[in-house]
Amino acid sequence: MASRSCLTIILAAGEGTRMKSSMSKVLHEIAGLPLVGHVAKAVLGTGGETDLAVVVGRGAADVQKAVGKISDTARFYEQTERLGTAHAVLAAREALTETHDDVLVVFGDTPLIEETSLRAARHKLAEGADIVVMGFRPENPTGYGRLIEQGGKLVAIVEEKDATEEQRKITFCNGGLMALSGKHALKLISAVKNDNSKGEYYLTDVVKLAHAQSLNVIAIDVPVENVIGINNRAELAEAEALWQARKRRDVMFSGVTLIAPETVFFAHDTLIEADVLIEPNVFFGPKVTIESGAVIHAFSHIEGAHIGANTSVGPFARLRPGSKLAEKAKVGNFCEVKNADIGAGAKVNHLSYIGDATVGADTNIGAGVITCNYDGYNKFKTTIGSNAFVGSNSALIAPLTIGNGVYVASGSVITDEVPENALALGRARQVNKEGRAEILREKYKAIKASKNK
Ligand code: UD1
Ligand code: CA
Repeated sequence: MASRSCLTIILAAGEGTRMKSSMSKVLHEIAGLPLVGHVAKAVLGTGGETDLAVVVGRGAADVQKAVGKISDTARFYEQTERLGTAHAVLAAREALTETHDDVLVVFGDTPLIEETSLRAARHKLAEGADIVVMGFRPENPTGYGRLIEQGGKLVAIVEEKDATEEQRKITFCNGGLMALSGKHALKLISAVKNDNSKGEYYLTDVVKLAHAQSLNVIAIDVPVENVIGINNRAELAEAEALWQARKRRDVMFSGVTLIAPETVFFAHDTLIEADVLIEPNVFFGPKVTIESGAVIHAFSHIEGAHIGANTSVGPFARLRPGSKLAEKAKVGNFCEVKNADIGAGAKVNHLSYIGDATVGADTNIGAGVITCNYDGYNKFKTTIGSNAFVGSNSALIAPLTIGNGVYVASGSVITDEVPENALALGRARQVNKEGRAEILREKYKAIKASKNK
């Protein structure tokens, strides 16, 4: 199949008015990736090259940007009037005039389509089918086009509105995605007329046209969730749930332990090695990678972070973009790390903010230590060497360098460079006044008594 050339057309011109949204429907996200991005990813993952053409409508520039992040060769065509699915495909006429062995038409709002289904459809083309329709069996077929079969061949697709009582009883439905032989695609789609109750050019009509020419048209049965279309935000959330369930299953089968899988949320690109343990209630934003042996404790929020081998994160940790934990590092409860390298074996265990910083290997950051990286206008860097000890509740005013083996006394405000192995004290000296506590108590007691008179 890899030798067969392929053109995939993604229809993404949908208005999606039921989303009640200021942006195009296909830009709404699942697992941090726009719907159309999920479709493009599945399409490009089918093995064997495919050219990609995307038919866009409203929000065209943003849709192009989203697809551009996944494919730098995708071409875009605008459908200015919404006259039906066949009309939408013909917006990409230029691409269709090229000679491709296979032409796939997929919808930009069916984010759960899997590579296996797309591959199965192309496989049927390779075996000699001229059109392959992706059928499915929904619990409730209302609203879907019905697949009319005769002797194992598909003879027509009838839209709900145009169907007879008898036809509406059919439960095998059109998922909307279609594979066509490149030899016939353009001719068939161009021949579609808008003679139906909606006055639209239906892509589905190519089936009866092809059947009339004795071409070989078949339907394959794909899993329901593959063809789930998103029309409103409730369906968006349902698709998110299905996607998360799929990802959790994949992650667990690849050797990751999830104690309460239903409470862990992944991003589209989360990468986790085997033998990682994730406790309940953890959220992953985009761009997170975790190496083997790490433990992510409960209630942590992680995005844009690399978490090294045998590290420990949380509970209640927040890792923001640019966080890198080397092996055996620890970031504990109520700590926030941003754009910072935490060295091997280093510990940031309690109530800290470490931002725009480097922390050397085996350094200990005490409770409540804060890097003061921002003056309201500019950000500055803090560099801390290895084997250092920064005492609790110290404020490190960046830009700042703290050498290897340094000891920073608790409660310090450190503004100047600390050389290797120095002890830095940045706080007022303690003064003890003998017996003064008793005198103070008497004084305060007298004030209170005079008020109560
Ligand atoms: C379509 C199928 C129906 C199938 C169902 C599955 C047709 C005629 N009908 O119906 O058999 O059961 O999908 O969900 O194909 N689009 C454009 N431009 C247009 C019209 C549509 O880009 O002018 C895009 C939409 O954005 C959407 C897709 O094509 O992504 C499908 O269009 P939609 O109107 O939702 O078709 P359905 O009525 O759901
Ligand atoms: Ca639809």
